[in-house]
Formats: sequence, C-alpha cells, structure tokens
Amino acid sequence: MVTLCVASTLLLVLGLQRKQRMSMPGPWALPVFGNYFQIGDQVHISLTEMRKTYGDVFLIKLGLMPVVVISGFETVKKVLGKQGEHFANRPNVYCFSLLADGKSMTFSEKYSETWKIHKKVMNNALRTLSMSEVNSLNYSCRLEEYVCAEASDLVNTMQQLSKDHGGFNPFPLITLTVANVICALCFGKRYNHHDKEFLRIIEINNDVQKVSGSGLLADFIPLFKFFRSTGLNELKKFIRTLNDFIANAVQEHYGSHDENNIRDITDALIKLCNDRNKYDKIYKLSNEQIISTVNDIFGGGFDTISSALLWCMLYLLKYPEMQEKVQKEIDEIIGTSRSPRFDDRKDLHYTEAFINEVLRHSSFVPLTIPHCTIMDTNLNGYFIPKDTSVFINMYQVNHDQTMWRDADLFIPERFLDESGCVDKNLIEKVFIFGMGVRKCLGEDVARNEMFIFLTSILQNFKLVKEPEHHVDLTTVFGLTMKPKPYTLRTENRL
Ligand code: HEM
Repeated sequence: MVTLCVASTLLLVLGLQRKQRMSMPGPWALPVFGNYFQIGDQVHISLTEMRKTYGDVFLIKLGLMPVVVISGFETVKKVLGKQGEHFANRPNVYCFSLLADGKSMTFSEKYSETWKIHKKVMNNALRTLSMSEVNSLNYSCRLEEYVCAEASDLVNTMQQLSKDHGGFNPFPLITLTVANVICALCFGKRYNHHDKEFLRIIEINNDVQKVSGSGLLADFIPLFKFFRSTGLNELKKFIRTLNDFIANAVQEHYGSHDENNIRDITDALIKLCNDRNKYDKIYKLSNEQIISTVNDIFGGGFDTISSALLWCMLYLLKYPEMQEKVQKEIDEIIGTSRSPRFDDRKDLHYTEAFINEVLRHSSFVPLTIPHCTIMDTNLNGYFIPKDTSVFINMYQVNHDQTMWRDADLFIPERFLDESGCVDKNLIEKVFIFGMGVRKCLGEDVARNEMFIFLTSILQNFKLVKEPEHHVDLTTVFGLTMKPKPYTLRTENRL
C-alpha cells in the first residue's frame, strides 16, 4: 500500500508538471481518478458535450494520464492530415502491447520507416488476396466469391430460424457469417456454424465487447489495474485465446505451404518471409512481424462489419418505409432472378445513402483507435508534448450541426443529389474509417461486404420487429459499439 501511495504521489507530481507544460482548457479533474467519473460510460457523448464548453482541443485526465481530445472537422483534418506524422503513434497501454504479442502494426508497433513498410505489406496482402481473380465467370474476385457464398448461407439460415422459432436474435448468425469471410480470406477456410473452437472465439469476442469500453479506459489508469481489474482480465483472456487460435492456423499453414499454390493471406505472408531478400526494404521486418499481419487483418475485419450490419438491420426495423425504398431499388435494378454483386453498388443509390447514414448516425466506432504524439507539436495555438495520448472524436464530427443539417435525425436522402445519385463528396465526410497515415485498410472490403449482406437479406425478406418491442438505438461505449440485443422476424418476399 505504501508503495502504491508513493507511486501515486510521484505520478501525480509528474502529471502536474506535464499539465503545467501543456496549458489548455478542460474540465476540473479529481486527484488520482482524473475525469474518469465525469466521462461515465457514454464516453463519446460526454466528450461531445465537453467540446461545447472547451472547444476543438481540450485536455482531460484519465487517472494521472493527460489525454488531449480533438473534435471539429477542420481541427481533425490538421491532426490526421497536415500534421498527421506528429500524431501517428499509439499510446503505450498495456492491452495494446498484448495484441499479437506486441507485434501488432495497428496497436503496438512504433511509428517509423519500418512501420510504414509493415502497413504496406498488410495493404498489399489484403488487396492482392481479396481482389485476386477466381476461376468462375460469376464472380469478379475472390472476396466477392466468399461473400456471396456466405450471403446465400445467411439467407437459408435466416429462413430456417424464422420457420423454427418465429422471432430470433440476429447477433450470433451475423457474427458467424462475417467471421467466416475473414477466416476464408486469412486461412482459406470457412467454419461450420457448429464448430466448437470457432464458436468459442465468437463467444469470447462478444464478452470482450461488453468490457472493452471500461477496459480501455481502465488501461489508461494505472491504479485500476490493482483495484478494478475485471475488465482488463477479461480483455487479456480474450486476446490470449485469439492469439492462440491464429497461431494454430498459421502453424497448420507452415505444414502444408506450397509456394506455387497461394491459398490465402497466411500463405502469401509465409511466401513473403521466404522471399524477403528479393524485395527492397522488406528485410527490415522480422518473420514474426510479417506473420503477425494476419492477426491485425483478422482483428480488424471481425467485429466491425458485424456491428455495422446489426446497426443497419436495427435502423431498417425502426424505419420500415426506408426498408421499402431499399427493396424497391433492389427489385428494379437487381430483380429476383440473380443475387446481388459488388458491381451493383454503383447503381443502388438509395441503398448506398442508407448505409452511409447508418455509419454516420450510429457512429458505432465513435473514436479512432487512440493516437499519441511522436514529437513536441503545436495545435491551434496549444503546445502538446511528445508522447501525449490523443483521442479523436469521430462521433462529434458526424453529429456536428455546422456540417450536417438536422444532424441528430436519420435522413438517408441527405446523401442524394437532385437527380437521386449519391453525392460522393458528402459520403467522404462520413468519418468512421479514420483518415491519413493511420486510416483503416479495410474500407473497401467492409463497404462491399455490408452491401452484399444487406441487399441479399432484403431481396429475400421483409424484416419486422416483434410487436411488443421498442426499437432502441442507444448503446454502450466501446472501441466498436454494438446495438443492445434485439430480436426480429422475417417475412418471405420471394
Ligand atoms: C465497417 C467496418 C470498419 C470500420 C468502421 C473500421 C474503422 C477503423 C478505424 C476507425 C480505424 C482506426 C483509425 C485511426 O486510428 O486513426 C481502423 C484501423 C484499421 N482497420 Fe478498420 N474498420 C472497419 C473494417 C476493417 C476491415 C474489414 C479490416 C481488414 C480486413 C480493417 C483493418 C484495419 C487495420 C489493419 C487498421 C489499422 C490501421 C493503422 O493502425 O494504421 N478494418 N479501422
């Protein structure tokens, strides 16, 4: 206890010294806990409220750690665009260091020339494999083949669930469906929906979602590691299980690797390790770093897309008249004799507008992954020292009344121009994939997947809420926020 008190006092003094150097507005902070209790469990909403008082750049404290909160589109553009390299690191928090055993490009690797090469390797692996040609006239690329196969299974299973149970909870099915696409891309293998190991990963992933909000904040507060460690422990357990699951899959690949038959992203990465001397600069990455790329792709594509789909379905239940408009567009442009394809996206303007309004309105990834300054820098007249943690509030930008008319209302038509076509410039302002050097690598994959799953469902079914249920759009903070559990019924359209 004495050690704890001494450590707290020391950290407090260091924290105060830092605050003196970093003078900017912000709410009054409690000793030791900082603003933790003021922020509560709706972090994105509290930070959005605070911005009204303190402006685009303000300081909060999580425990003793100062965190600069950035809001406002113009300021965010400076932080992620013009001054992007100054803010390109990730904070040194414990949970991030556990991911991929500290070799995660996304969470733990330090921003550097080697990091840039690593991100490039990941981008190439994802693009090459997802966009590679397939031996079928029906599909434009491997990703389309995988997604359409899963979509067809999804529709059949929904049909069966409706027949057997009437109303059902779509969460497990949607998560399994999306996880199977990323497994196919990464490991060339889809899992049976009853596979025990696979179900365990899904289950743990759901559990971690429940604790990720508090776990993330607690990770910034050293004392919470001693006193409120439940969230952190759960998070650690999940990360270990996920690491083991991926390590096993990679090990199996080493055993069956054939460099003339690249089956998936893992094979491509193993080949890159074997050929590393042929490529300029790749030699700077260790084999472990190259292979860890698969963890980042798997992690990135697992929970985000399933959350997006669950939100889309919830908004469809809330606004049945919009559901009818999407269905009318599907009927007119795709019809009933064939399934949706990637290429249809460019013609289904209302559907695209609807999906983008879900991304904006729900802002289910409310903050970017935390950033950290790589050097001393200045922003809007404020000095920010090297190694300062930075939260970027995407939810605020997506709900900014000066950018979006009636920002809190759900209006897909805001993305359509007078001729009914999507306004691409406005869609680019929807801030959910980040921006700049740290931008998400999976945006294209995600947008194509969301489109196919949603249109396949709506081509086949009308989604209806249970009569006694009230559609609840509120949520609990996390890196990725899922809606609260809900059930739905399907009525056949075909
Ligand atoms: C709707 C789906 C998705 C959303 C909303 C989303 C959003 C984000 C956000 C906000 C970030 C952090 C940006 C920052 O820190 O500034 C990110 C990073 C990342 N995402 Fe996604 N993502 C999605 C899907 C995917 C998919 C499908 C993949 C891979 C297949 C993926 C891979 C990544 C990777 C590797 C990073 C780390 C980039 C870096 O640290 O430089 N994401 N994503």
